[in-house]
Amino acid sequence: VGDSGDWLMRQGLCGQVAFLKCQFGRTLEGHSMHELPMALDRAAGQPLSEQLASQLRQAAAEGQLRVGERMPSTRALATTLGVSRTVTAAAFDQLYAEGWIEARRGSGTYVMAVPAAVGNAVPSPQAANSGSDDCGRSASRRTTWRDLRPGSPWAAGIRPDMWRRAWRAAADAGPDGRHVRGGLAEFRRAVAEHVVRHRGLLVDPAAVIATGGTTAAVAELAMAVLGRGDAVAVEEPGYPRAVETFRAAGLRVLPARVDHDGLVVDRIPAGARAVYCTPAHQFPLGGRLSAARRVDLVAWAREHDAWLIEDDYDGELRYDVTPLPLLAGLGPDVVVHLGTTSKILSPTLGVGWLVGPADVVDAVLAHREATSTSPSLAGQRLLTAFLLSGDLSRHLRRVRKELTARRGDVVDALTAAGSAVLGDRAGAHVVVPLADVGVERAAVAAGREVGLLLEGLERCFTGAPDRAGLTLGYAALSSRRELDAALRVLAGLI
Ligand SMILES: Cc1ncc(COP(=O)(O)O)c(C=O)c1O
Repeated sequence: VGDSGDWLMRQGLCGQVAFLKCQFGRTLEGHSMHELPMALDRAAGQPLSEQLASQLRQAAAEGQLRVGERMPSTRALATTLGVSRTVTAAAFDQLYAEGWIEARRGSGTYVMAVPAAVGNAVPSPQAANSGSDDCGRSASRRTTWRDLRPGSPWAAGIRPDMWRRAWRAAADAGPDGRHVRGGLAEFRRAVAEHVVRHRGLLVDPAAVIATGGTTAAVAELAMAVLGRGDAVAVEEPGYPRAVETFRAAGLRVLPARVDHDGLVVDRIPAGARAVYCTPAHQFPLGGRLSAARRVDLVAWAREHDAWLIEDDYDGELRYDVTPLPLLAGLGPDVVVHLGTTSKILSPTLGVGWLVGPADVVDAVLAHREATSTSPSLAGQRLLTAFLLSGDLSRHLRRVRKELTARRGDVVDALTAAGSAVLGDRAGAHVVVPLADVGVERAAVAAGREVGLLLEGLERCFTGAPDRAGLTLGYAALSSRRELDAALRVLAGLI
């Protein structure tokens, strides 16, 4: 098999493997034929069509198939691979449904997009959460990764027709010549409706402004509402990017204790001018702030003349847990509520919203005017189109269904491996407790050796960690099949 032997080794394929080299069609420009190795393993339990679809997806993710390239016909491919045409047709159907290929009448089937979230490009050692030289070297040898880190949405689950429809509607507005500091009026109205419908928060559109996402909004609050040297209390463990954002703006970060009921209000450190928290789904531990604590926290803020920054990063993603009233509903005078599209659509849009008291909104707008900054209008138009067409509600129904099933898969796989799983039925991550930080680091490093991107709890602490584990995200991979494959490897590690 020559060079391809190395490929087989990398895939870890063994047993009865039918190995074939297939020639794929010409590129649109009509040059360069190339060869793709395809290995279908009849002994592997997994249907041949699924194996084929997954290898084609992987070839596209690795750049061996490019957008615009013509696929071979199902008949030709079946002949080359020595399988029935039902197998190749089923694989193509799957790829059509996922939006990666498209049939053009009379001219064939073409690659329309390449999956970015499947077996993503090699992440930098930092992005893969490891500073070790050894891990860095193995990173450079590996070409595909299975990402089980928290933070990513199910981007592959956005139906291509919805995505295109929204971009088309956004483009119809034509180019803009001026900034709109607080965001487009139609965006603010549509978001006000969204937060009533999905978060039960009745709000005047005038109290809603567009942001570039939660982290961008945190940075603006740190500069426009708080100031250098101010202290801000942050959940411990908490969201490390918020911590870094506050620090970068010159604020002091004070760790605030969290238990199974969320932030412990009577232990908030003295001197905090603001508290940043994730009441709906504590990041990373996955619990929620109890109703009694919510009331206490608002009372605390009023008493101490402090702001509460409510990061509602995945509030739309609750499955069978009843939502509790938002802090912003209980204390509209002291709460700055932040929402984002990062978990429900894509973090690459850089679109979010802030709902806050008039003086906070005014301070942020004045800061934007002074620094000539404002969030992108294109992203606002896209989200407005998603909201007004009803596509976002439809998409959210699909996402909730998919993530509920994925969470079940995660719990089943880890329970069978003898591990506990912590966190509410919400969002897109759980915590897998481990014995100590040493075990956690070893697990993250061992994951890298077998192509899994894992993230430990350690990075969520500002001080010495008092617990250890993995924060396991289950939305990034494109399909449940990909997730199952990753979980099998993880179960082995655990
Ligand atoms: C706790 C928390 N807040 C906010 C975000 C998203 O922020 P942004 O809107 O900046 O992408 C994330 C994403 O991972 C998160 O985990």
